[in-house]
Parts: sequence; structure tokens; C-alpha cells
Amino acid sequence: MNLLKNKIALITGSGRGIGKAAALTFARNGANLVVNDLDEDVANQTAEEIRKFGVEAAVCAGDVTAADFPERFLKTALDVFGEIDIIVNNAGFTWDAIIYKMTDEMWDAILNVHLKAPFRILREFGKYLRLKSETEKPMNARKVVNVTSVAGLGGNFGQSNYASAKSGVVGLTKTLAKEWGRFNVTVNAVAFGAIETRLTMEKEGNETADIHGIKIPIGIPKNVRDMFIKMIPMGRIGKPEEAAHSILFLASPLSGYISGHILECTGGLVF
Ligand SMILES: NC(=O)c1ccc[n+]([C@@H]2O[C@H](COP(=O)([O-])OP(=O)(O)OC[C@H]3O[C@@H](n4cnc5c(N)ncnc54)[C@H](O)[C@@H]3O)[C@@H](O)[C@H]2O)c1
Repeated sequence: MNLLKNKIALITGSGRGIGKAAALTFARNGANLVVNDLDEDVANQTAEEIRKFGVEAAVCAGDVTAADFPERFLKTALDVFGEIDIIVNNAGFTWDAIIYKMTDEMWDAILNVHLKAPFRILREFGKYLRLKSETEKPMNARKVVNVTSVAGLGGNFGQSNYASAKSGVVGLTKTLAKEWGRFNVTVNAVAFGAIETRLTMEKEGNETADIHGIKIPIGIPKNVRDMFIKMIPMGRIGKPEEAAHSILFLASPLSGYISGHILECTGGLVF
């Protein structure tokens, strides 16, 4: 398939997990990519794998929550490729606690990465779209895909910060779908259930990820994970490639007249 031939796609958090799978799926479909991740080594690794598909990859490493990130991210695409066709807001992590144990730091970190960073990136994209609209008539079809979660649709125990942020992503998506129809941009989101990544791996000990110098616990204890899998009608956790295909659909011409939609990719789990 060559659904994204010669398109320029920017994906945050594409050094691992769902973002990486989306980047490789896009590359297989002919897109050139701007890869981002907090961790530069994994971003470079994704870029190397992308180039094996005969397309180009540029890396814009760094923290999506940094105030100067959106400009740097879009500028990388424009400097290297001269165009922006697709933006996927995917970067993020979880930092759980029941509400009376949730600190302001935990709340702010999760709201910043999942909601404020996409808002700022899309605000920057909005400036670009307005400029383009002065000369590009009619405007080319462009795509935004935001990554949200079933936690943002139905809430989740211990995730008041994450569920609030991901719910905010739904509002942001639906609002920009209304604002950007006139620019020929579709704005959609995918709400994932459980997808096999380091966020959902079976916890063996006290695995952590280093995010902003803070050790964030990752993985799910076996008993909780097993219980969750029992609730999934398809009886299993999704593969990153399956997650990537749902993002591809919303980034491709196949979804040309779909905007403001939240696609649930959950193996049948309904919220
Ligand atoms: N895995 C799931 O079951 C699941 C379910 C619902 C939603 N999601 C969402 O999918 C997205 C991807 O998660 P994943 O499961 O692939 O996790 P992952 O940890 O495998 O990958 C996320 C990547 O984002 C990067 N990242 C984190 N914070 C960043 C920051 N501030 N700046 C730049 N990069 C940053 C990480 O370094 C990592 O490489 C997240 O938004 C997550 O909330 C995942």
C-alpha cells in the first residue's frame, strides 16, 4: 500500500511503542517523517529503521512540553521537507495514584504532556495553516491524529490526571475539527484500550522510566493485567501494529470526510 506517498508526517513520541509502530507503518506507506522522542537514541533508531523503506526521516528530539518545542518541531519539517501534511500527537506516559495521593507535580506533568503539548503544537500548526490559506487555493488535504485513551472516555481508577488530560484531548480534537474544516484539515483521535508497550507490559519488579529526571513506574501488575484482559471481548491486548493501523486510517485519504471523530481501538471494550 502507498496510502501516504510523499506525505510529510510528524509524530511525537515515535521512539517507542505506538508512535514508533505508526512511524514505521507510515514509512511503509510512502511517507517521509519527522521523528520525535524525549530520548534521542531511540528517536535516531526509529529514523534509521524508517530509511530502510526508501523514504526520508529527520529527527527532532526533545521534550514536547518545552515552550520552544512546537516551533522547533514544525521548523524541522519545513527546513528539511518544506511541507507539513500530517501531525500525530502521541507522546506521553502515565503517573498514577488515587486522588488523595496525587500530587500537583503528578497532575501538572500529565496534563502538560498529554494536553498542553498537543494544544501548543496545534496552535503552531494553526499559524502555518492561516499563512498557507493566503496562497494555497484550494488548500491541500491535511490530517491531525491525536492519541487519547479509553480512560479519557470512561475514567480509570487511579488515573484522575491521565483521564482528565485524555478527556481534554477529545475536546481539543472536536473543537479543531470545527475550526479547521475551512482549511481542509481533518482532526480526529484514536482512543486506545490496552496496547502492548512498555506502559502495559507485565510488571516483574519495580520497573521505571526516566522522564524529566523523575523515575516513573511503568508496567501493570500481573493480576491487574490479567483481570483487564478478561474484560476485553477479543481476549487479548492489542499489538502496536494494530494501533498504528488505526492511526494510519485517520491519517490517510481513506478518512477524507471524517473529522471530529474518536475512533476506539480497544478489541471490543466499550465505554
Ligand atoms: N499502551 C497503551 O495501552 C495505551 C492505551 C491508551 C493510550 N495510550 C497512549 O498512547 C501513547 C503512546 O504510548 P505507548 O504505550 O506507546 O508508550 P511508550 O512508553 O511505549 O512510548 C511513548 C514514547 O513517548 C515518549 N515521551 C514521553 N514523554 C515525552 C515527552 N515529554 N516528550 C517527548 N517524548 C516523550 C517516551 O520516551 C516513549 O518513547 C500515549 O499518549 C499513551 O497515553 C497507550
